Amino acid sequence: MATGKAFTPLTLGPLGLRNRFVKSGANEGMYRRGLPTKALVRHHREIAAGGAAMTTMAYCAVAPEGRTFADQLFIRPEALAPLRALTDAVHGEGAAISAQITHGGAFSFLKPTDGRRPGSASGGFNPTGALHGVPLKRALDPSELPVLADTFADGARLAREAGFDAVEIHMGHGYLLSQFLSPGENKRRDDFGGSLENRARFPRMVLQRVLDAVGKEMAVGCKIGVFEGYRGGGLARDAAGLARMLEADGAHFLVLTGGMNVQSPWWIFGSPMPVSSMKREDPSFIGRRALDILRLMQPKDLAFRELYFHDHSIQVRAATTLPLLYLGGVTSMAGVDQVLGEGFDAVVLARALLHDPELVNKFAAGTATRSGCTACNECVATMHTPLGTHCVLRPLPDPAENQAIAGT
Ligand SMILES: Cc1cc2nc3c(=O)[nH]c(=O)nc-3n(C[C@H](O)[C@H](O)[C@H](O)COP(=O)(O)O)c2cc1C
Repeated sequence: MATGKAFTPLTLGPLGLRNRFVKSGANEGMYRRGLPTKALVRHHREIAAGGAAMTTMAYCAVAPEGRTFADQLFIRPEALAPLRALTDAVHGEGAAISAQITHGGAFSFLKPTDGRRPGSASGGFNPTGALHGVPLKRALDPSELPVLADTFADGARLAREAGFDAVEIHMGHGYLLSQFLSPGENKRRDDFGGSLENRARFPRMVLQRVLDAVGKEMAVGCKIGVFEGYRGGGLARDAAGLARMLEADGAHFLVLTGGMNVQSPWWIFGSPMPVSSMKREDPSFIGRRALDILRLMQPKDLAFRELYFHDHSIQVRAATTLPLLYLGGVTSMAGVDQVLGEGFDAVVLARALLHDPELVNKFAAGTATRSGCTACNECVATMHTPLGTHCVLRPLPDPAENQAIAGT
């Protein structure tokens, strides 16, 4: 039996966790018409039963235009009953559940319904929009930002009503808030662009409003990039400065990540994208050509390393006393012990728990010391299959479960 720090309780603001293992938000592909399926409930129940202290429901859009894909969840009163089924199932296994609240900004595969260009920190060419005939984005007017910040606060209130224990504000990977934070993306010359302090102003406004709305009842965290992995992108020192600001603002925890959806998606995973399989799943000619370009852009020498964000994240650790949740290539109990020993407060895992939802219990019992995940990233290509996101090395899930929950 394991007895180290990994299996001791952790407090994040008003929330107590039973141990230091958190399931990372990983787009489940288990929604129909923007509502959860039974498969989503099963998926998170399995993670909870497998020993994780908290599981994270990925990409919960705070507005319909904040979605990146058509079937994706956007939080609204109609979604509360099926979301309650999800949170009850996780609580029934003794775990907590967090909702990753977010907005895609200009990163979306959907055409804006209002006929306008999608809003971002800055205007100009938008590679994601170009895939569906909207090649330009527009700079959001400062008057629009408080309105958008309020949609995050409303989303957090609804998440609370649905029984979530935490919200994770997505400030990484190239979504709206990271379009402001990233020095390569944000070219504004007003109070919301330029210095790190200015680039962080809108994300901090969002955090403040979410904390005001729910911060006494639920844990409020932010997922931030420690290394954006492209020329002109944010570095660990930007993340360290941001962490200090978010600490001063009263955030309860930070999840550390890296990479950007458009410029450097391989860095999100610390290993190459499964381009051939992604092409097989993409019916559009333009989409497949874009994936050809992505294949050319991928560094040829990128090989998966355990704890691949370690050296960046340790610089953030030195900058703040906030609870920091280490993410990126956590695959062994030795790695978990290492980062917890270095002062991180918990570990966050995506692929290792997709591969084996029971891994935490196995670590605790000493029946496994290492994940069997090979970092092939084939799970990424399964996100939009009828089965939803799954590990290709495991038995296939039941497709009948991936239908909207009856009555919704
Ligand atoms: C299939 C898949 C989908 C993902 N979707 C999301 C997402 O919706 N939101 C997010 O913040 N990260 C997403 N990620 C990234 C993970 O949360 C995590 O940052 C990344 O996989 C590295 O962690 P790992 O080494 O433990 O897998 C996804 C990862 C995978 C494998």
